[in-house]
Amino acid sequence: MVGTEWVRDAVLYQVYPQSFADGNGDGTGDFAGLTDRLEYLRWLGVDAVWLNPCFVSPFGDAGYDVADFLGTAPRYGTAEELAKFTDAARGAGIRVLLDLVAGHTSDRHPWFARSADDPSDHRYIWADRPAPGYVASPGSRPGWYKPNFFDFQPALNFGHARTDPDEPWRLPVDAEGPRANRAALREIMAHWFALGVSGFRVDMASSLVKDDPGFVETGRLWRETRAWLDAEHPDRAILAEWGDPARSVPMGFHGDFFLQFGGPEDGAPLRSLWDNGAGTVHEHWPAEPCFFDAEGRGSMRRFLAEWERARAGTAGAGAAFLPTANHDYSRLATGPRTREQLAAAFAFQLTWPTAPAIYYGDEIGMRYVPGLPDTEGSALGPRYNRAGCRTPMQWDATPGAGFSDAPAERFYLPLDPSPDRPDVAAQRADENSLLHHVRRLIALRRAHPALGPDGPVEVLHDGYPLTYLRGDLLVVVNPRRAPAGLPVERELPGRLLAGQGVSMTHSVLRAEGFSWAVFAR
Ligand code: BGC
Repeated sequence: MVGTEWVRDAVLYQVYPQSFADGNGDGTGDFAGLTDRLEYLRWLGVDAVWLNPCFVSPFGDAGYDVADFLGTAPRYGTAEELAKFTDAARGAGIRVLLDLVAGHTSDRHPWFARSADDPSDHRYIWADRPAPGYVASPGSRPGWYKPNFFDFQPALNFGHARTDPDEPWRLPVDAEGPRANRAALREIMAHWFALGVSGFRVDMASSLVKDDPGFVETGRLWRETRAWLDAEHPDRAILAEWGDPARSVPMGFHGDFFLQFGGPEDGAPLRSLWDNGAGTVHEHWPAEPCFFDAEGRGSMRRFLAEWERARAGTAGAGAAFLPTANHDYSRLATGPRTREQLAAAFAFQLTWPTAPAIYYGDEIGMRYVPGLPDTEGSALGPRYNRAGCRTPMQWDATPGAGFSDAPAERFYLPLDPSPDRPDVAAQRADENSLLHHVRRLIALRRAHPALGPDGPVEVLHDGYPLTYLRGDLLVVVNPRRAPAGLPVERELPGRLLAGQGVSMTHSVLRAEGFSWAVFAR
């Protein structure tokens, strides 16, 4: 495949490394465990894996507080073990992406320690007086630094788009500190590319240049980075955590994600599709009905409008990833949404002209586990705890779920305690399981390029059942509990390729509750 074309065709699988597979029996996932599980990822059919940060860190924010961008965290293994994983993955046809925490470091990073003692250092943003949101210097340097997320994550200084004589700490983007940070981003990426890494998901990609109306300077920074990639590493890709593909792709990213929060509408379009229990398990969002809701009270309109905007704005130049969930949010199987409802969500995700991103465990219907302790900064509010979507992968029915041989009390997070928790082994043995549905849908997407991001789409019905044509294929998805019907008013593809619970006569399409199907001519 030429250059970065692989991104648009990718079926991306997100691995939270702490919780995927523990190879050394200490209760936390690692590279060795991940390498052992490559066979599964290959069998499933995914072709790119994104790992959350696996670098040296005090783990105040699960690794998003990096203390050395060029070293792996010992808990996961050595850089050689990571290289072994990327090599083995490549052999299995799977590309590996890491996470580039571009906007901040840990307050334990040596750059920050130096900056907190040296008033001439401008790798971070230092105000000479208390300013809103700034934190007092922990070092001999007087002043206050700007954090990017938690207080222990000082923002790297990429400059301010607008300077102000009253706030002399606002440096322009081409000042020495900001330039050094830009160069550092390239050094970090090149370092990992040399070890076989194919790209990065870029954390908080919109946060770099401060006070930047319209993200003009932030866009320049990323376009410059992209020009460097195109010249030096033309097959490596960067995917933004931005939540606005129409903005980030023209700025140089090869892809971006629809996000459950963040972006111009603070995640509302994705939540209107599947909200994964927002409003019930979190306090941050209103409990509004989503389309993939068993009661069938949602609407596709908001998501479709946002997707149209993304499609027009990216104009074939990059991918808009549609995630089932991620490490910051609850899973597809959250609250009242049961496993039997999930196949319909995957049927949409894997046949819609977006790029699919599967969050580990969603393919077997792992659920968001409520009531866990705040772990490595997982809690962001009294009811908003990210730990519930970060629990160990459930591989089999043994007491450690095949995740780890360690005693349960040493597990990074407890396993889902429910007696009927799903697992990979049982679902691999059952052709009718969610896992097999997902695998079949991935294979179908591969076999029929019309289902990919570049194929045409025509929505025939945006209510229940959602019905659309992808070239010569017809997709029907009914995510609600009640059956749904649709009169057939024109000749439609009628040969069932895959699905469950959808039937068609010459005059009517009938979709049972929680059903889906793909028909060919
Ligand atoms: C990551 C979070 C992290 C935050 C700070 C987010 O966008 O996805 O997990 O806590 O950035 O780095």
